Amino acid sequence: MLDRAVRIGMIGCGTQAHVHFGALQALGAEIAIVTAICDLDDERLAKAGEVWPEARRATDYRAMLEPADLDLVIVATMPNTHEAMSLASLDAGAHVLCEKPFMMNVEQAENVLAKAADTGLQIQLGTNMRYMPSSQYLHDLVRGGSIGEPVFGKVWGCHDIPPVWAPHYHLATSGGGVLASTLVHALDLAMWVGGSPNPITVSAATRQLFPGKRGAKVAPEIHARYDAEDLIGGFVRFDNGTFFSLEGNWCSEGKDWHSFELTTTRGTITGAPFSIKADIDGAIVDQTPPLAGDGDWGKSVYVQDAALIAKIRTDSAQPEAVQDARQLLNLQKVIDACYESARSGREVAL
Ligand SMILES: NC(=O)c1ccc[n+]([C@@H]2O[C@H](COP(=O)([O-])OP(=O)(O)OC[C@H]3O[C@@H](n4cnc5c(N)ncnc54)[C@H](O)[C@@H]3O)[C@@H](O)[C@H]2O)c1
Repeated sequence: MLDRAVRIGMIGCGTQAHVHFGALQALGAEIAIVTAICDLDDERLAKAGEVWPEARRATDYRAMLEPADLDLVIVATMPNTHEAMSLASLDAGAHVLCEKPFMMNVEQAENVLAKAADTGLQIQLGTNMRYMPSSQYLHDLVRGGSIGEPVFGKVWGCHDIPPVWAPHYHLATSGGGVLASTLVHALDLAMWVGGSPNPITVSAATRQLFPGKRGAKVAPEIHARYDAEDLIGGFVRFDNGTFFSLEGNWCSEGKDWHSFELTTTRGTITGAPFSIKADIDGAIVDQTPPLAGDGDWGKSVYVQDAALIAKIRTDSAQPEAVQDARQLLNLQKVIDACYESARSGREVAL
């Protein structure tokens, strides 16, 4: 049991880092304190320094990690840097919370997970949708068995404009477009609620609709770097017989939302809008309970960060809602296999 606040280093002080900053401030200085911040960009570093005036500042993450005095490092840069930063943080004796998507590919994911296993430190992924009340409820419901076995999952992430505030659309930086950058949230959630089965085959096709769509809305320098897929359709089979369809779109004219629906042997459950419908003696019965505060994105990051920090403070056994290495690797395998299938035009066996 730690009798002091968890000391945290933030690598990357952009958009998502500030969501974490809000969560960490809400936890309180006796629970968590950011003692080191790092960004290549002086302005962003200065802005983060306004939130954490006592934190030491660095533009090189290796220098930030040098004193090896951090309990937890949050890696909130783009994915092209996740592997090196996670490895260096684990080497410096810190647990790691890495923002999604996890790594650029399975090989990097294996390297980082092996290092975490060697050091006995935690590496977690910032798939904060798991921490929404509806997600926790559905996960426990499926585990309890009363809604039957999951059979078919629909996973979607459809948005009306690509995320252009950061280079999510630039493959060398992001490792993937709509699938890796945004659909990953609902995919991870559906796999987790569905019992974390192992993927066995994956088929996918992708397209880039930008700049034919939405091109007129964004700056010319973004046009020059945009080379990621912004439309994907996919199909995944798992070793427990479950199968998923995937749809991701950054240039959708439909409703802007992302979630999943699972058809089970006894009903259908949906993440958003949260819904549980069961077959009771042949009748479709709505069993959706009222849940407070669902769908609050910032709150789910808070709950996620609070759970990991509580774990670090108490050194307790791994809580149920936290990913294990197999889940992290399986998520990366599905992403890699979707891209491989889209390139080859063939189904990929894992
Ligand atoms: N969980 C979520 O809800 C969520 C939401 C948004 C973004 N993200 C993820 O968070 C990560 C960051 O995304 P963002 O939108 O905050 O991007 P961003 O561009 O706003 O922030 C990234 C920051 O990292 C800094 N950086 C880049 N290379 C660096 C290096 N070598 N050393 C130090 N700093 C460096 C950049 O200067 C920038 O300030 C991505 O992986 C993204 O997918 C997660």
